[in-house]
Amino acid sequence: MPDALPYSHLAAGYDAVMAHVDYPGWARYVARLLGSHATDARDVVEIGCGTGSLTLALDALLTARLRGYDGAPAMVAEAQRKAARLGADVAFGVLGFHQPIPAPAADAVVLVYDGLNYLLEPREVAQLLANVRQSLTPGGVFVVDQSTPANSLNHAGEFDDEGETDAFSYVRAGHYDPATRLHTTTFELRAADGSVHREAHYQRAYTRDELAALIGSAGLEVLAAYDGFSTDPAGAESERIHWVLRNPA
Ligand SMILES: C[S@@+](CC[C@H](N)C(=O)[O-])C[C@H]1O[C@@H](n2cnc3c(N)ncnc32)[C@H](O)[C@@H]1O
Repeated sequence: MPDALPYSHLAAGYDAVMAHVDYPGWARYVARLLGSHATDARDVVEIGCGTGSLTLALDALLTARLRGYDGAPAMVAEAQRKAARLGADVAFGVLGFHQPIPAPAADAVVLVYDGLNYLLEPREVAQLLANVRQSLTPGGVFVVDQSTPANSLNHAGEFDDEGETDAFSYVRAGHYDPATRLHTTTFELRAADGSVHREAHYQRAYTRDELAALIGSAGLEVLAAYDGFSTDPAGAESERIHWVLRNPA
């Protein structure tokens, strides 16, 4: 049984667990999308920023002012420590997707790497989209990606693993239910002092069409929907879709 909130204990070793992720490459891709669709962006906000790896990589690439928010206080604390270590002028704060993004209005908002999938109900996604729209300047853009059912189905063999970080050793186990499209990942985290914590992470795999309908209802304009890390149009079988949305107001 889980005894801890997602990302409460995982935060201390999150970067080591995610060492395989090419954050610099991911940041270059997001910067490219912003360069094409949000030229002259001066204020860029990343929500669901976790420990700030992408935020800090983007800060090094963009001339814009960066802010990062995440709902898990322990992840934000890690992000703040990393920013201080790097001497980066990036502010990080705690913010849930259900909360309005603090002023000033942003020229671009970014949400990548499955943050949206943590919202299990369409009405929660609708609330997120409304919040982001409200926080954007007129013409401002939202770069958001989604992991699709194809991603969960095609990678079922890679859900389970284990490893060591400086903070804990971990065992990760994943399960995807195609009927509900609910993806469950449990982490068992064992610290050096022998304490053990279990976190359960729940995500919903939305289809492209489901998200398109929610985006339409939120009044955001679709500038592009790209197939994973490319500028090819996303299709029904895309595993990851990067949306570029515009606030028309
Ligand atoms: C898979 S992690 C990705 C973190 C970061 N974007 C990265 O690329 O490493 C998903 C993040 O979404 C955050 N998150 C999940 N649900 C959230 C919510 N309802 N409000 C705010 N943040 C949330 C988690 O705390 C976590 O940091």
